[in-house]
Amino acid sequence: MTRLSVVKGDITKLKVDAIVNAAGPDLLGGAGVDGAIHRAAGPGLVAQCRTLGGCETGEAKITTGYRLPATAVIHTVGPIWHGGDQGEPELLASCYRKSLALAEQYDLKTIAFPAISCGVYGYPISEAVDVAVSTIREYLEDSKLDEVLLVAFNDEILAAYEQALEG
Ligand code: APR
Repeated sequence: MTRLSVVKGDITKLKVDAIVNAAGPDLLGGAGVDGAIHRAAGPGLVAQCRTLGGCETGEAKITTGYRLPATAVIHTVGPIWHGGDQGEPELLASCYRKSLALAEQYDLKTIAFPAISCGVYGYPISEAVDVAVSTIREYLEDSKLDEVLLVAFNDEILAAYEQALEG
């Protein structure tokens, strides 16, 4: 059975098969976790990203990890929060599903997610973590993955994940 757990820390330090990047649609880097991943990976990452033709909201694309301890980076573009009635929950769920599916497709067994859309994109944290946990749990009912990690960068997100995982 696949393990789903939460860890506090910096996703760029994790030695897993794939880390997920909360990217922007141009895939060329930005602030937040996107900036941290590009800085840690080095210039090879943005060079490969330039060849991908961007990424639509709710979709995901894969690259190698370059100087990161992780083998691969799965770049997904979360929805910008506009109040919740513009398809945000469905788009956010799609980010998790498409990222998990890409990991499986590439035979990657361990994957770590940041709290997609919970920073610059303004998604309310408790609502976002509920979408994350329920979508991942549903996906894991039938999957070949070994471990999924939810990475909390601060205590507020850690507490929200812990509450969602208890439910
Ligand atoms: N490790 C783990 N989580 C991190 C890290 C890190 N090193 N750095 C930031 N985070 C967390 C933030 O605390 C937040 O909870 O990642 C979560 C997502 O926040 P953002 O990185 O702002 O991502 P998002 O809200 O999806 O916005 C994406 O921001 O940087 C730009 O190019 C990016 O346009 C895109 C947009």
